[in-house]
Amino acid sequence: MSKASPSIVVLTGAGISKESGLDTFRDKDGIWSRVSLEDVATPEAFHRNPARVQAFYNDRRRQLVESDVKPNAAHEALVRLEQAWPGEVLVVTQNIDDLHDRAGQRNLIHMHGELLKARCEACGEAHSWKDDITVETACPSCGAVGRLRPHVVWFGEMPFEMERIYAALGTCGLFISIGTSGSVYPAAGFVQEAGFYGDAHTVELNLEPSDGSVQFHEHLHGAASEIVPAYVERLLREGIPE
Ligand code: APR
Repeated sequence: MSKASPSIVVLTGAGISKESGLDTFRDKDGIWSRVSLEDVATPEAFHRNPARVQAFYNDRRRQLVESDVKPNAAHEALVRLEQAWPGEVLVVTQNIDDLHDRAGQRNLIHMHGELLKARCEACGEAHSWKDDITVETACPSCGAVGRLRPHVVWFGEMPFEMERIYAALGTCGLFISIGTSGSVYPAAGFVQEAGFYGDAHTVELNLEPSDGSVQFHEHLHGAASEIVPAYVERLLREGIPE
């Protein structure tokens, strides 16, 4: 296997969870075709109408907790990659679902936060959270009422762990982007960081060419549950393409 030990950074988006039964955002049946993001996914929306914002995330949280949504073959293939690749594999997900966690991914960054956590705006503490949050919910740490919010990153807020992500992008030998439209920064700029400023080979695995498609060295188009396992097996067999 040539170049067997370079590290790998994998970026995932909503497309990897689509076949698990979770909607994407910008496809024609996507979440932003039904709800306006300005109404539910900004700090301003939360301060204007907290009940509306909580209801949106309560519905999505219930879908994770109560339905039979589970990781699919694409999530599982990334766990296999982490276990079998001789170098470091870091998965950076934009998804707030817990499907990578449930599949068993260990080296994982939730850059847009986690739906199954609630954070208190009064004391800053984050807690594992499976129930609905209402304006009457009290923080288990400080007791403040009505100050809990989903531990997610809204538009206009800073994603988590950016320093660690940029350090990994700058030194990786392979950058793989899976199931993301490439329309939201900073994640949309990762391909350039890894492949233009860094020395990484870059590959896009997506249902269709994304907005940033031309920036990748290699492309595979199709459903994540099919193309991700196939790509991982090829990588483990043949290594990173020269
Ligand atoms: N397999 C692979 N790719 C798929 C599949 C599938 N089964 N189904 C859809 N896709 C692709 C779509 O073609 C699209 O390019 O997944 C991509 C999903 O794009 P978006 O809906 O824009 O989701 P994402 O890129 O994750 O959005 C980024 O936007 O609203 C925010 O915070 C939210 O993290 C999210 C961010």
